[in-house]
Amino acid sequence: MKIIAVANNKGGVGKTMQCYQLACHLANSGKQVLAIDLDSQANLSSTLGVTVQRTLIPEWLIGDVKVEDIIIPSEGSYDFHKNLFVIPSSRHLASLSKLLILSESEIRKNAGRKERLLKLRIQEMSTKFDYIVIDTPPMLGDELIMSLVAANQVLIPTQAQDYSIDGLEELMDTFQIIRESENPTLEFSIIPSMVNVRRKIERQRLDELSQNFKVTPFVRNLVEMQESISVKKPIFLMGKNSKGYRDYRTLWDSLGL
Ligand SMILES: Nc1ncnc2c1ncn2[C@@H]1O[C@H](COP(=O)(O)OP(=O)(O)OP(=O)(O)O)[C@@H](O)[C@H]1O
Ligand SMILES: [Mg+2]
Repeated sequence: MKIIAVANNKGGVGKTMQCYQLACHLANSGKQVLAIDLDSQANLSSTLGVTVQRTLIPEWLIGDVKVEDIIIPSEGSYDFHKNLFVIPSSRHLASLSKLLILSESEIRKNAGRKERLLKLRIQEMSTKFDYIVIDTPPMLGDELIMSLVAANQVLIPTQAQDYSIDGLEELMDTFQIIRESENPTLEFSIIPSMVNVRRKIERQRLDELSQNFKVTPFVRNLVEMQESISVKKPIFLMGKNSKGYRDYRTLWDSLGL
């Protein structure tokens, strides 16, 4: 089982897009995939056809609810949906940190530290998946930290205006701490996201980024990517000539996914 988290504490950089395209692609390759939505905006859940009034993720993490009771099959028009399952989010997840504080002594007994809760719950799962893809919210909070502790690999979509090395450094510092304390084999990949190659300034920033970090092939800013989300049709179904599909195929090949 491979656990992939998609993270960046910056908002609107293409995290949920990445999760959606990757989870659908893996499911379409015949893999059993679980998408965990740890963002209270619940965009990944709704794009995968699952909306719930109130998420039970906090109760699951604390140990009051079994995982079987919160996994829901994804819904959509395509055959691959049969391989794709979701642990959905809702607005209620915004109070996760408060709830974790209230259950602190119980968590200490079970997991030692709250940062380890997600990893522990994934390890306990009786239904095994080939891949788990985790979407995270745009802040350095409990959800993001838990995901970094649980994951084998982190994908970091990064947008042109965030190419300032300072922006990424806060996240890199957090990785370093997690690696040293909880997860020494954690790997990360920086993915230039929503790139407008026609703009000189963006090409320059891309060069700067590549000089400072190892980056993957980029994904362009394309109208068809937005369409893919609004009609809930993954990019690999948009046809061989789709630019978005070409970008993603190159990206996934480079990541061995
Ligand atoms: N390659 C792309 N080309 C064009 N639009 C894109 C691309 N990737 C993402 N978008 C659009 O940009 C917006 C932000 O993307 P997305 O929701 O994936 O970002 P996010 O990092 O998950 O945001 P948040 O931090 O709020 O969770 C969405 O409207 C999405 O459809
Ligand atoms: Mg998102």
